[in-house]
Amino acid sequence: MLERMMSMRRGAHMEDDEGDEEGIGDESKTKKHLSIATRITNYFTRTGYLCPIIILTAIAIFTISSFFVTSRDLLCVSSVSSFDRLSRSRFFGLDGLESDFGSLGVPWCRSKQGKTVEWTSKDLLQGLEEFVPIYETRPIKNNMYGMGFDHSFGLWFIARWLKPDIMIESGAFKGHSTWVLRQAMPNTRIISVTPRHPEKYLKKGPAYVDGNCTYFAGKDFIDFGSVDWKTVMKKHGVTDLSRVLIFFDDHQNELKRLKQALKAGFSNLVFEDNYDTGTGDHYSLRQICDQFYIQGGGHSCFEDSDEARVRSRRKSFWEKAVDTRELCGPGEAWWGVRGYMRDDFNHTNKPISYQQHFQNSRFVESILDVYWELPPVAGPSLTHQTRYDPARAPSPIVEDGRFGLFQRLGLSRLEKSVFNGYTQMVYLQISAKESS
Ligand SMILES: C[S@@+](CC[C@H](N)C(=O)[O-])C[C@H]1O[C@@H](n2cnc3c(N)ncnc32)[C@H](O)[C@@H]1O
Repeated sequence: MLERMMSMRRGAHMEDDEGDEEGIGDESKTKKHLSIATRITNYFTRTGYLCPIIILTAIAIFTISSFFVTSRDLLCVSSVSSFDRLSRSRFFGLDGLESDFGSLGVPWCRSKQGKTVEWTSKDLLQGLEEFVPIYETRPIKNNMYGMGFDHSFGLWFIARWLKPDIMIESGAFKGHSTWVLRQAMPNTRIISVTPRHPEKYLKKGPAYVDGNCTYFAGKDFIDFGSVDWKTVMKKHGVTDLSRVLIFFDDHQNELKRLKQALKAGFSNLVFEDNYDTGTGDHYSLRQICDQFYIQGGGHSCFEDSDEARVRSRRKSFWEKAVDTRELCGPGEAWWGVRGYMRDDFNHTNKPISYQQHFQNSRFVESILDVYWELPPVAGPSLTHQTRYDPARAPSPIVEDGRFGLFQRLGLSRLEKSVFNGYTQMVYLQISAKESS
């Protein structure tokens, strides 16, 4: 092989020499007019060193220029205080947000037939215009530990679009989500399942108790999975279960909730906290679906991998981003949260194998008709949110740079903190597996 390469090089050399034969006379004629650069080039051509010289020069230029690019980035990262807004947007620019995780994949769930929702981004924009003034009248102004603006809008929009015959919520806290459902559907019955009755919070401050709501709360609390839904639906005159909307904000394992809802015959579900892999206090749809369709796939737990580099870079800008050390548990277990399936606000959790994780994702795919993640309402340069990484979320409804639109929709009137709670709220339509 080596011999063959050498003879090829030799052959090429000889061809060059032969080719020069003809031009020798011309060369001698023009020799005194040649520039130094041309003479050097000619010398290397004759001696056969031209190719290696060009390659070496190219490598040198590439190395020097990439040093300047990298050092500019390093300077940028190290010179900004963590979560510095201005530097964050300068550093990422306006369009560099989505690309970072491109090759690593941002999880989402595949539906059986690839069906999607009926509404468009134009509908979402119109909805926003209508919802902002409604949101400003909310009774609970500071809903810490509950929904912020993005998810309030998402829930209101979905409920108003679907116009269900009855709405069920699991996890009401002080009642903000009950209030949102009420704004969407002023006359529709709500069933609220929550351990502590929202009226208890009224003693300490703002809360919302609805007059047209059946509460399974306080001493009447019974977990969603133990409710006799057939009897309850019959009692409320609901015969078509496809006209029921279920909203889960109870921080329970979403696979468990999915199975319970399916068993009861419900098909329209919203999960408020659809946590990204490696985050959150319960097993979420996103976690379940992460990477299962990539053959031999999975996140890279190597400290020197591209993923580790991207993650640590992004972690320095977004509070809730996770780096590889947080993502991966013992034995490089990255699925769920470090290989754990969390439940009930992480009060219980158990390790799952990659095989179980994979089976869970296949099960979800087999019953999923629609999977739609609510986009954030607006880009971070507009909302000034600092927590979730926009590269792990769908493109915002109001994109970065569209301040005029942001202002026209009334979004600039809201306090910044209401934009911090986005966790990829998801709307699902489910139906039983087709029997094969
Ligand atoms: C994050 S808060 C809900 C926030 C509320 N949806 C809002 O918009 O403000 C979670 C709620 O779930 C309740 N919870 C805990 N375990 C539950 C269960 N098994 N079923 C229903 N709710 C539960 C908690 O008491 C708490 O009120």
